Amino acid sequence: MISQKSIQEIREAAKVEDIVGEFVTLKKRGVNLIGLCPFHNEKTPSFTVSPAKNIYKCFGCGESGGPVNFVMDHENLTYPEALRYVAEKYSIEIDETVPSREALEERQRIDSLYLINEYAQKYFAKHLFETEDGKMIGLPYFKERGFNEDTIKKFGLGYAPKGYKNLTEKASKEGYKLESLKKAGITSQKGFDFFRDRMMFVIHNLTGKVIGFGGRTLSSDPKSPKYINTPESEIYIKNKSLYGIYFAKTAIRKADECILVEGYTDVISLHQSGIENTVASSGTSLTVGQIGLIKRYTPNIKILYDGDPAGIKAAMRGLDMVLEQDMNVKVVLLPDGEDPDSYLKKVGADAFKQYIQGNANDFILFKTQLLLDESANDPVKRASLIQDIIDSIAKVRDPIKRSVYLKECAVRLQTDEQILITAVNKILYRSLQKKQQQREAKEIRETAPPPTEFPGEAAPKEKTKTKGDTFQEKDIVRLIVEHGDKVFEGDTTVATYVLLNIEEVLEEFDDDICQKIITESYDLLRSKKPVEPQYFLNHQDTRIPDLAISLTHSPHEYSLNWEERLSNPMQTQPMPESNFKRDTIAGVSRFKFRKITRLCEKNQEKLKTAQDEKNTEELMHLLKIQQKLIQIREELGKEIGTVGAIKYK
Ligand code: CTP
Ligand code: MN
Repeated sequence: MISQKSIQEIREAAKVEDIVGEFVTLKKRGVNLIGLCPFHNEKTPSFTVSPAKNIYKCFGCGESGGPVNFVMDHENLTYPEALRYVAEKYSIEIDETVPSREALEERQRIDSLYLINEYAQKYFAKHLFETEDGKMIGLPYFKERGFNEDTIKKFGLGYAPKGYKNLTEKASKEGYKLESLKKAGITSQKGFDFFRDRMMFVIHNLTGKVIGFGGRTLSSDPKSPKYINTPESEIYIKNKSLYGIYFAKTAIRKADECILVEGYTDVISLHQSGIENTVASSGTSLTVGQIGLIKRYTPNIKILYDGDPAGIKAAMRGLDMVLEQDMNVKVVLLPDGEDPDSYLKKVGADAFKQYIQGNANDFILFKTQLLLDESANDPVKRASLIQDIIDSIAKVRDPIKRSVYLKECAVRLQTDEQILITAVNKILYRSLQKKQQQREAKEIRETAPPPTEFPGEAAPKEKTKTKGDTFQEKDIVRLIVEHGDKVFEGDTTVATYVLLNIEEVLEEFDDDICQKIITESYDLLRSKKPVEPQYFLNHQDTRIPDLAISLTHSPHEYSLNWEERLSNPMQTQPMPESNFKRDTIAGVSRFKFRKITRLCEKNQEKLKTAQDEKNTEELMHLLKIQQKLIQIREELGKEIGTVGAIKYK
């Protein structure tokens, strides 16, 4: 246990810019630093680091935290592991308190699981190379499969002998507790060896420790399962392990791509042929945890499928979550009846590489084609196919990619693109709502004292109430931030339209941040610079990206009757996206109406004072203004009436 004092010391020493800077190239932007987010795939930086607050935050994906958090998330470490990492970096000597009995026991239990697995691995390998059976049965099997001796040793392959209790008895004699052997999955609950007369494949974790085994039968008896695998244990968590990851990780990073296959033998064969960026999901469908492992090294994943259409379809279904994880997914279909291992042997490494290069298909388009072939001439199947594709597209995080898919799939499905857009937006809208709720829940949690991990963010965020004109102000700001650079008409952008139309009340914003955004937008406009989302998202005053994000990501975006429209996916209504013009006109009118009304009220007060003071000159002047204001107000009222059913207070 790391003592509180050490934790304190480590936390105080850890500088977010140092720690993050190790993994992310950061550039100075005002008082902050900015770079490409390591937690999601992006081309324009939205990942900001605030040395003053000692925190990082990504305005693209929402990841945030302090330096220790960063190490935990980026390197997949536990809290104590991350603390040790930081301590080492700053040469802080860790002062360990005497661990509690429970902590000690847990540590010992886990260590013993690793030890037992290591012991078993050596036992199986020894049997392969040194016993009669191993030499007669085991080694020839691997050799026949084309594995050379270096490969066999590198991957720690082995042979589990026949007989019921060989390993269990030997291990017990050497001091391993039966209880632990059972926990590690080496011994069955009934006390027998778990693996008997099987070819042994070793599963390593990221750091190369043995965590489990896969045992392949040699018998052709259909009752004997082809593979049996170590049951889950405290150290072998199936959906967080990938076969081969320890040997593949460097190559994955280098190639900036991970090749995913199904089987143990596929991984070994590909590695032996020099294609070392390969791992296997070991028969199960890919999980979020496994993607997390890959994502540490690359966002690009190429999945190799055996040429067996039934299996592929099943596998495809589980794959949408890979898209959600912001991975670029390609799929390769191997020729009929081949798996990577067999095909590689058939054609050799060069032709194999060429094949997987030349036959890599984009996942969504591949899935579309696959389902399309399957549902030919069946309208019922076709409808469900379209929904299936829509679900996939909605999982894609990058809006540009999404729109490319929508176009492409509309062509392939021979469907109106607008229908697809509507349906995808409906899904997006729902998930936005969900995210918003989660974010709000998180905010409440984060503001609850005492702060533990985010000292810089400790100040409780006050929930600002929408008061006065804030609603209209935010609407204007949203239009500027979200659509500012879009063409309103001819060479007028939305920003130009909005700002020029509210020039008279440009300084009248109640909300400070809204005012700042508007003033700066106006400056941009005057200096002929584009008023585009990136400007606000990358702003050094982090309140600006904060507001920009919350405005453009909240359901508020779909104000008024969007929700109703979205709930009918088959209606080909123009989407909010394309309807920003109508929104802009309405927003500006509402805002101006509100502000002019306020100016009228203020002027009225001044009039009163002037009257009381019998200041005729001033009175005349104010009356003129009042007339003008009333006139504008009336015009606006008419405008609002013609814009649509917009209610205003
Ligand atoms: N698998 C499993 N249990 C089974 C069958 C398969 O756990 N009963 C897993 C194994 O991890 C296996 C992978 O699924 O490696 C792929 O299965 P398969 O293609 O049948 O095996 P291969 O690895 O290709 O083995 P071989 O080449 O010896 O047939
Ligand atoms: Mn095979």
